[in-house]
Amino acid sequence: MVIAIDGPAGAGKSTVARGVAERLGFTYLDSGAMYRAAALATLEDRREPAEVARTLEIELGERVLANGRDVTAAIRTPEVTEAASRIATDRAVRAALVEKQRELIRRGDWVAEGRDIGTVVAPGAELKIFLTASPEQRARRRAAELGVDWRTVLRDQTLRDEQDRRREHSPLRAAPDAIAIDTTDRTVEDVVTQIAKLARDLRG
Ligand code: DC
Repeated sequence: MVIAIDGPAGAGKSTVARGVAERLGFTYLDSGAMYRAAALATLEDRREPAEVARTLEIELGERVLANGRDVTAAIRTPEVTEAASRIATDRAVRAALVEKQRELIRRGDWVAEGRDIGTVVAPGAELKIFLTASPEQRARRRAAELGVDWRTVLRDQTLRDEQDRRREHSPLRAAPDAIAIDTTDRTVEDVVTQIAKLARDLRG
């Protein structure tokens, strides 16, 4: 079974997806980590992003290994965050990473999280969730994680949201059959419980 969880940055996708995977005993796929790892390699190697994405050997788990190197912390810097959003607009980069994601989730039970899981990577996913939250709430959550002022985060976030939504290839949008969940005033626990119940009901 595949559970697709999409939505903008700061909607709580990673925390919720991890929680659902743990609750159900599924494996968690952080597709954003792939875009980030490809962005980091592009910044370091100065190679074509599409070439980097095609040759990227990535292992996702507790730690993120890219071409054998532990990049868990390095892919979370503001520079890489910005570069990831930029290379995610490249159709060839997306094609290469989507292929890797499809290959991973072909067998077994997965909670896959990103922007285009329900629309492109796994349009046949049994359960699709689109997580949202108010822009202010999303910025506050990110700021708390980073230890910076939320207004600064809000400004950068608005720019990246625009870039993710307006890009020509696989823009951020909910699949028509996705269930929208607004996490603004809800706890992680509460949202995880709701999604786990939806999955259990589907399985019967
Ligand atoms: O979820 P994140 O912040 O780690 O994602 C990093 C960037 O990658 C973000 O700008 C959106 C992009 N991304 C994407 O385009 N498609 C995905 N499935 C996942 C992430």
